[in-house]
Amino acid sequence: MPSMVEQLYARVLRPIVFQLPAETAHRLTLALLAGVPIGPCPHDPPELRTTLCGLELANPIGLAAGMDKEVKAAGAWQAMGFGFAEFGTITPRPQPGNPPPRMWRLPEHQALINRLGFPSAGMEAAARRLGGLRRAGLRMRVGVNIGPNRDTPRERVAADYALLMRTLGPLADFVVVNLSSPNTPGLREWQAPERMREIFAALRSDGPPARPILIKIAPDLEPPMLAQICGQALALGVSGIVATNTTIAREAVGVTASYEGGLSGRPLRERARAVIRDLYRHTHGKLPIIGVGGVAGAQDAYAHIRAGASAVELYTALVYGGPGLIGAIKAALAGLLRSDGLRSIGEAVGRDA
Ligand SMILES: Cc1cc2nc3c(=O)[nH]c(=O)nc-3n(C[C@H](O)[C@H](O)[C@H](O)COP(=O)(O)O)c2cc1C
Repeated sequence: MPSMVEQLYARVLRPIVFQLPAETAHRLTLALLAGVPIGPCPHDPPELRTTLCGLELANPIGLAAGMDKEVKAAGAWQAMGFGFAEFGTITPRPQPGNPPPRMWRLPEHQALINRLGFPSAGMEAAARRLGGLRRAGLRMRVGVNIGPNRDTPRERVAADYALLMRTLGPLADFVVVNLSSPNTPGLREWQAPERMREIFAALRSDGPPARPILIKIAPDLEPPMLAQICGQALALGVSGIVATNTTIAREAVGVTASYEGGLSGRPLRERARAVIRDLYRHTHGKLPIIGVGGVAGAQDAYAHIRAGASAVELYTALVYGGPGLIGAIKAALAGLLRSDGLRSIGEAVGRDA
């Protein structure tokens, strides 16, 4: 039974918000949410308490990158009940991203397509905001997702990541190296093992990083490439993998394929879960995985966890489900654990892999 907040969103707010073009609605919503002050965390069922890369989380549900690229609404994400939020992608220098229109809803599929291309206010602005969060008493865990500027030449890309790491790493609990946005030309090529080595050499040029570093990968990788990435990640001592970014595949949505960009939401769910399962198998459960793609309810989150994810993230479902969704997922997830006789999230991770 949906909560009152969920019903209010579905019946009143969403029909109004969906009258606006997707990006306008997003900008307005964020401006409103930015006004929510940092307050107490909602209560979480104790069995949802878990760890990710050595970090304690009050619950395993996180906000995916892209929703809050500029660290504007941390108070709202914490109040909604997220256990952590991944801000970004943040680039070193400010850049506008691709020309609009660049974001579309596909309501019949509970999906979005975007080709935003990393609009970013740059890392200095993000650093100022991140610095303020802990001082203001934010308790939720904070990740920063980093990526190179679009006009950075190939030979400077690793240096961009290193600069972002130096500037933003100390201000976050973990860092995600984004290797998989489909909207920055050439970015996905950095998933190749020799390119990953180049990036990690640069990231470690100042000594051992102070924070866990995860990589974020695409759902569109062929199985041999996925295996290679796992081998390289283990060899490099990568802290974990975020799987997955949006997909360039369109089988699941048919004719709406005409928009170019990354597809997210329900049509991505099974593909993302298959990638999570493969990653877990290839790494024998040694690398923590953040499972992301198509999570819209407790069953989805639980299935990603049972496939091998230590925590999950979502973006698109928040657009369709509204702010009551996170509390609903957490309550039902605790119930699912209990009905399977499990006492913690950790006990469920990888059970179906
Ligand atoms: C509008 C939009 C913008 C996004 N921007 C980013 C981004 O800047 N960096 C990133 O790593 N992922 C970005 N993503 C991908 C999400 O973090 C996530 O990996 C993907 O949407 C799948 O999750 P979902 O099905 O819950 O939305 C974006 C997704 C959407 C819909």
